[in-house]
Amino acid sequence: MNAPVVYLNGDYVPEHAACVSIQDRGFIFGDGVYEVIPAYGGRLFRLEQHLRRLDDSLAGIRLTNPLPHARWRALLEELIHRNGGGDLSIYLQVTRGCAPRNHAFPAGAAPTVLATCSALTGNAPAVLAAGVAAITAEDIRWKHCHIKAITLLPNVLLRQQAMDAGAVEAILIRDGQVTEGAASNVFTVVDGAITTPPKGPYLLPGITRDLIIELAREAGLSCREAPVAEATLSGADELWLSSSTREVLPVTRLNGEPVGTGRPGPVWRRVHDLYQRYKDGLRSGRLS
Ligand code: PDD
Repeated sequence: MNAPVVYLNGDYVPEHAACVSIQDRGFIFGDGVYEVIPAYGGRLFRLEQHLRRLDDSLAGIRLTNPLPHARWRALLEELIHRNGGGDLSIYLQVTRGCAPRNHAFPAGAAPTVLATCSALTGNAPAVLAAGVAAITAEDIRWKHCHIKAITLLPNVLLRQQAMDAGAVEAILIRDGQVTEGAASNVFTVVDGAITTPPKGPYLLPGITRDLIIELAREAGLSCREAPVAEATLSGADELWLSSSTREVLPVTRLNGEPVGTGRPGPVWRRVHDLYQRYKDGLRSGRLS
């Protein structure tokens, strides 16, 4: 990709020229929300679902969406075009805008709207062949994890805890139950049946998660949204992570022990193939 172009408050500018005030409440308080949206072959993946989640996140922090969905679509399509298309990860962020530091909401501040994109490379074949390592960790976050807030310090610390242990993700446990990963949702497979924790305030309703459930059910696989006890993890045949950037990724070691056979499992392989087919459909314009 050439020098990236970003969208900031109505303008498309080279990344190095995009400036935000030090008074921005995103910078000072982490007072904002975000989305990460993949594009395959320049086509936006599940845009309406991402924009609905953006609406929910904005409602969760009592901020009105500054743009209607049609405007978001046009803006993001233009951004993709200006960055040369292809497979991209779009990052968008809305903060409560600039005002002198005061915790209470400022009167009349205009939200700061940012959208950027970077190349989306997908998972390396070697990673898919071997799977990845994860750890479990206590979910130290707040009680509004369904809001995709830019305030990510606990997630940052938890992900780093995983990296320090030679793993790629921390699977989070709250009161003995699996919630999600530091930046992903979690699926288990036991005796061929797929389970992922149900939506609620303790996890982000992942767009990838929803597509995996949809694809698995369409293919006749058993896929439930039900609580997953921490104790289930050690006996699971398969364990997966899902996110916009990691798609569906098999975890083959948990806390240093093999998961199932220690190799990516057959149910994962099936769902991974379905997911790749979905992406191909999007690239060719057959799907939205
Ligand atoms: N994060 N849970 C958390 C805490 C996340 O941060 C993410 C994604 C997900 C998966 O959501 P989705 O399938 O819609 O990407 C679940 C993004 C990718 C990030 O912060 O970079």
